[in-house]
Amino acid sequence: MSSPSLPMSESNLSKTTSMDVASVRAAFPALQQSIHGRPLVYLDSAATTLKPQAVIDALLSHYAVDTANVHRGVHTLSQRATDAYEEARETVRRFINAAALEECIFVRGTTEAINLVAQSWGPANLKPGDEILVTAMEHHANIVPWQMLCERTGAVLKVAPMGDDGALLVDDFDALLTERTALVAAAWISNALGTINPVQHIVDAAHSVGALVLLDGAQAAPHCPVDVQALGCDFFAFSGHKVYGPTGIGVLWGRRELLEALPPWQGGGDMILSVTFEETTYNRLPARLEAGTPHIAGAIGLGAALQWIEGIGIEAIAAHEAQLLAYGTGLLKGIPEVRLIGTAPRKAGVLGFVIDQCEFPVHPHDVGSGLDACAVAVRAGHHCAQPVMERFGIPATTRASLAAYNTRADLDRLAEAIEYVLRIWKVRG
Ligand code: ALA
Repeated sequence: MSSPSLPMSESNLSKTTSMDVASVRAAFPALQQSIHGRPLVYLDSAATTLKPQAVIDALLSHYAVDTANVHRGVHTLSQRATDAYEEARETVRRFINAAALEECIFVRGTTEAINLVAQSWGPANLKPGDEILVTAMEHHANIVPWQMLCERTGAVLKVAPMGDDGALLVDDFDALLTERTALVAAAWISNALGTINPVQHIVDAAHSVGALVLLDGAQAAPHCPVDVQALGCDFFAFSGHKVYGPTGIGVLWGRRELLEALPPWQGGGDMILSVTFEETTYNRLPARLEAGTPHIAGAIGLGAALQWIEGIGIEAIAAHEAQLLAYGTGLLKGIPEVRLIGTAPRKAGVLGFVIDQCEFPVHPHDVGSGLDACAVAVRAGHHCAQPVMERFGIPATTRASLAAYNTRADLDRLAEAIEYVLRIWKVRG
């Protein structure tokens, strides 16, 4: 196996970025454990990130001391919970540079954010023959809600293709934009391939034909600075659990005038100003789109996670991950039996691969199990992106995905574990 010519040691790594990896790692209790007798290597952060102590502490403190409902109580605990919940919204606003707090809606995650737009904006704005344009690399969460909406409204789903490297074919994307395009819904970063899409071009081109743009930021928010005002998109969605925060919480951001025009999508407490059996008047944003008791602890935990990222610096994290991606790509390219899936020129920290450059290919699930035996955690499967797998003519990939706490040593362990899989599957004599 050939080694890439990048420096190997962690001290070198620390010198080349402004991030102290050792102290980042020390913040994650899950990294202090062994699996099957070996220190854990966690390379599944595209599925969900590990949680720093600051997030765990915020959740614990809310549940241990400040548990109360929000926006409903006059007692001290309720006030504290409300303040913490709304402070988390301010942290979200700052993190994505939204113009106003009211534009940041807490939801369960990216999936719910997209479904909210599909179910609320869609029927109110689409007519038969209108088109929704997605890319060929979308997660199911950015496909199925639009298919459901098309069934309901008679709108048509169009798909912009990608090349063999997993990069969007921008000319084809542009050619699919017409005056019939009502909405473009695109991933900023592909979860299965790591491709970074040209989102500024996507936004500008879509707007030039009068279409709105929803960006699925689930894989972007943990890896690159987000500025929704500079981007000029119309909706932006991301999940807490992929930015070092809790599961079950996420954010839909939308331009205020668009959100204000959305019909309420769920009815219940907090989203109303007054209710009689004859008539209900709805609350202002953001409450109008947050029916029922929200995931209070989740929002507080998300706020803590975003503050943790701010403390490290998202640019420093991005630079660190870019170095690791280059290093890991070199390592995997040095294993003859491995074929990388997703080699776009602009990529984030995702290394998807198959072992099929040999007489006896190993199924990605078996690769994943073999890596687990070596305490290397990766995801194996279609990554909720079956059309991507179909595009590449494969059922699945094994995917190693990076976060702030990963190191070159982690990637060395990945390469060693792949060599182990090749031996136990007798791919090599
Ligand atoms: N969307 C998550 C992933 O890519 C679950 O693994």
